[in-house]
Amino acid sequence: MLFFRRKKPELLGIDISTVAVKLLELSKVGSHFRVESYGVAPLPPDTVVDKNITRVEVIGNIIKAVVKQSGTRLKHAAVAVPGSTVITKMISMPAALNEDELEAQIELEADQYIPYALDEVSLDFVVQGPTAKTPNMIDVLLVASRKENVEDRVTALELAGLKAEIVDVESYAIEHSCALILDQFPDREASRAIAVADVGATVTTLNIVHDRQIIYTREQSFGGKQLTEEIQKRYGLSYEEAGLAKKHGGLPDNYGPEILEPFKNAVAQQIGRSLQFFLSSSAHRNVEYIILAGGCASIPGIDDYIDKSLGIPIIIANPFADMLLSPRIQPQRLNNDAPALMTACGLALRSFD
Ligand SMILES: Nc1ncnc2c1ncn2[C@@H]1O[C@H](COP(=O)(O)OP(=O)(O)OP(=O)(O)O)[C@@H](O)[C@H]1O
Ligand SMILES: [Mg+2]
Repeated sequence: MLFFRRKKPELLGIDISTVAVKLLELSKVGSHFRVESYGVAPLPPDTVVDKNITRVEVIGNIIKAVVKQSGTRLKHAAVAVPGSTVITKMISMPAALNEDELEAQIELEADQYIPYALDEVSLDFVVQGPTAKTPNMIDVLLVASRKENVEDRVTALELAGLKAEIVDVESYAIEHSCALILDQFPDREASRAIAVADVGATVTTLNIVHDRQIIYTREQSFGGKQLTEEIQKRYGLSYEEAGLAKKHGGLPDNYGPEILEPFKNAVAQQIGRSLQFFLSSSAHRNVEYIILAGGCASIPGIDDYIDKSLGIPIIIANPFADMLLSPRIQPQRLNNDAPALMTACGLALRSFD
C-alpha cells in the first residue's frame, strides 16, 4: 500500500515532469501557509519519455542537486504519478470494517476491479464517506498504478537521499492547488464549471473543475517546446540558448510578430478546442473562467490574448498569492515560476492533511 499513507512527517513536494524536477517546501504559520524553499531544475532530453522515467539515476542526481540548491532540510517527500498511468474505481464496502479489515478485504477483492495481475500493481484506497442511499456502507476510492510507475519515482528519490512517504496522483495534487486558487477569488466562485489549462513544455492539459473536483480531463501533445524549437530553427540557436532567450528576451524584433504571436494563437486554439470537446460532452453550457497554469502561462500577455480570442476571463495560476514567503525566497522569481508549480504545491500541501 503506497498512495495515501496516513501518518507522516513534514513533506517536500517533488514534481518530476517531462522536462524538469520541481521542489517545494511549505510550512504553516498560524492559519497561513509559508513557502520555505523551492527549486526548479531542467532535465536532459529523453530522461522522461511518454511519462515513463527512462534514466532513473540521472533524475536521482538532479533531485539531489535541486534539494541542495533549495536549502531544504526535509528528508521526506510526496511525489506523484501521472493521472494517465492510474486506474481508479469507486467501490462500496461495509462501514463496520476497521482500517485493517478494510485493507484485507480490498486486497481479496481487488482483482475484480483492476485489469492487471495484482503483483504488478501498487494499490491503495481512500475512504470517501457513506454510500448514498445505502445504509451501513461506505464509498472507497481504489487507486492502482503499475508498479514500475511508482517504483521508478520512489527509487529516484532514494538516490537523492529522500524517502517517498506519499505517492499521489498528479490530478489530485492539481485539485489541491486549485482549491487554494478558488479561495483567492471567493466572490467569483459560482456553481459553474471552471477550466484549468496547464500549458507545459510538451503537454497541454485541460481539467474542468466543478464543486472543487476534476470532472473532465483532456491532454494534447502541445507545449512550450514547440516555441523553443521554432526559435532554434529561425535563429540557429541550441535548445538551451533558445530556452533562455524565450524567458529572458534578446531576440530580434521579428520574434514577436512572426513567432510569438502565432504561438499564442496556437495556445488559444488548443485550449479552445479542448473546451469544445468538454462542452459538447457535458450539460455545462460554458465555463466561468480559465485558470492558466504551466510554464507557458508566464509568457507576457498570453492571458489577454486568450481572453480576447476565446472571450473567457483568464486568471494566471498563482497558488502562492496568499502565502507568506521565507526571506530566502525571491518573490519575483517565485511569481514567474508559480504557474508551473501547481503539482509541486499540491504535493507539498500533503504535509497538512
Ligand atoms: N517566462 C517564460 N516565458 C516563456 N516560456 C516559459 C517561461 N517560463 C517557462 N516557460 C516555458 O514553459 C515550459 C515549461 O513548463 P512546465 O514547467 O509547466 O512544463 P512541464 O510540466 O515540465 O512539462 P510537461 O507538462 O510537458 O510534462 C517550457 O517550454 C518553458 O520554456
Ligand atoms: Mg506539466
